[in-house]
Amino acid sequence: ATLLVDASPQSAQKIPDKMFGIFFEEINHAGAGGLWAELVSNRGFEAGGQNTPSNIDPWSIIGNETYIIAGTDRTSCFSRNEIALRMEVLCDNGGSTICPNGGVGIYNPGYWGMNIVQGKSYKLSMHVRSVDSVNLLVSLTSSDGLQNLAIANVVAGALDMANWTKVELLLEAKGTNVNSRLQLTTTRKSVIWFDQVSLMPLDTYKGHGFRKELGSMLANLKPRFIRFPGGSFVEGEWLRNAFRWRETIGPWEERPGHFGDVWRYWTDDGLGYFEFLQLAEDLGASPVWVINNGNLYLLGKLARGLHHDHIHNDQVDTSTILAFVQWGSVRASMGHPEPFELKYVALGNQDCWKKNYRGNYLKFYNAIKAAYPDIQLISNCDGSAGKLDHPADLYDFHVYTSGNDMFAKAHQFDRTARLSTGPKAFVSEYAATGQNVGTGNLFSALAQAGFLIGLEINSDVVEMASNAPLFVNDNDRRWNPDAIVFNSWQQYGTPTYWMQQFFKESSGAILHPSRLQTNSSNLIASAITWQSPQDSSSYLKIKIVNFGSDNVNLKIAVAGLQNAVNSFGSTITVLTSKNLMDENSFKEPNKVVPLQSTLQNAGENMDVVIAPHSFISLDLEL
Ligand code: AHR
Repeated sequence: ATLLVDASPQSAQKIPDKMFGIFFEEINHAGAGGLWAELVSNRGFEAGGQNTPSNIDPWSIIGNETYIIAGTDRTSCFSRNEIALRMEVLCDNGGSTICPNGGVGIYNPGYWGMNIVQGKSYKLSMHVRSVDSVNLLVSLTSSDGLQNLAIANVVAGALDMANWTKVELLLEAKGTNVNSRLQLTTTRKSVIWFDQVSLMPLDTYKGHGFRKELGSMLANLKPRFIRFPGGSFVEGEWLRNAFRWRETIGPWEERPGHFGDVWRYWTDDGLGYFEFLQLAEDLGASPVWVINNGNLYLLGKLARGLHHDHIHNDQVDTSTILAFVQWGSVRASMGHPEPFELKYVALGNQDCWKKNYRGNYLKFYNAIKAAYPDIQLISNCDGSAGKLDHPADLYDFHVYTSGNDMFAKAHQFDRTARLSTGPKAFVSEYAATGQNVGTGNLFSALAQAGFLIGLEINSDVVEMASNAPLFVNDNDRRWNPDAIVFNSWQQYGTPTYWMQQFFKESSGAILHPSRLQTNSSNLIASAITWQSPQDSSSYLKIKIVNFGSDNVNLKIAVAGLQNAVNSFGSTITVLTSKNLMDENSFKEPNKVVPLQSTLQNAGENMDVVIAPHSFISLDLEL
């Protein structure tokens, strides 16, 4: 096979600056119990919603009913999340009923165990109320409560905490345990109310509350945009369960939290609208905010055989738009006086087929455009096959399909009309799915790599692209495959994560026409040149996927290069593995990762052997 690359400036085409980014959805406990570093699960005792106030799960009570009674009531000082925990201690070590060893109280196991690390500090914050004299032990312990990792005392005289009092303290861990819990215990007869109990590691990504290792993994992808917070999560099966940005900003204690009914778990919304914008800024990525436009996630309801007629009348009023733009004072009070750079808003998620979509879309479109003409608005309707019947700056395109079809879909946009005006595609969700992809194997990564090369080649009609889903907490897999897998203390990238690393120089780079002369439909290639922002060196990057099971002897001929190739600084990077179905795991996180070595014969003419089932990048310094 031969690959001819025309690197002459005349035929060059700029790839859009925001071509490759990430899509964060609150699915698989990606945020709550994931990227958001909060260690307490259900910190406000609200989980389950206002209608099931007795649900304190996963909090548990230490001690039996002879010694302690605990349950929720609605006495919180926070009006938007009224539920608090009332703990009545019946025993007293100075009285007739002595408390069991270690005292009685409550504990929180976090999201499948808290990762407490020796030498690290954790900030505990809680609201407490009691008319009694209080002697509370705050401790971080092993999951059986026996090993103490950190301890602090909260002591108060009678009536000192008669009104809700915020208690904050720093716990320094004297030991490590990846499956720890937070305990609040006492040996004194008293009635104590608790609310908004939070435990945050001090050490977070850029100090903004994101779990450090997960934030760094995102940064390593150099994403040019971040789409958030979903996906179907934005829609909700019921409007009251949809993501409402206004409920997710301001002091975290006052946020009501909500039950994400599509992926079926509670989130305290610690990772709210402000934090998403902060994350985008920290990553140097443009935020792409997906808003609920009054349409709901109907597929889940239909699948469950439920009626949804009422939903069609359950619309968001256009008056909401005003509130959408007026939040500057809240933002400033949260420590960010400068406006965030919000340039993209997606009006809904996969909603085009719903009967209210166009009506609602136009209301939002007109109101936002009138106030913010620079914001790029994204329609949910597919504009790849024909002209849209409504105005849009971009159109959303989602593709979930088998690995083989994903690879073939590299040509999806080859036939899209090249219009001088009209929206370009935002492929905001793509993934190879189904039986053969496991929980994210080499096969799915290669299929997606082929697809992305196709998007790169068609980047005159495709503006942006992101994989889905980004994260999975291994304890709550609701969707396979995903790009980053984690539990309370470990994380690794699936081959899909590593595959995306091959595209991190592409956004804003120069695409050069390339032609493969081969009979095989298992090969695809692209060529770009890009400049390092660090030292201004230039590189020619040729990417090739061999989706087939045979070695390919590839002759590469590059014409029209403006600079000579520096063979010393040139490398070859290969993503492959022994078996096509190989995956990474906590045990073997680096089983399928890219391996880089010096490219010996770098030049304008090269003979390269492309291994079966591999993704290769040849990086030639110019
Ligand atoms: O990525 C998982 C889900 O797939 C998203 O929530 C939804 O947009 C799509 O159907």
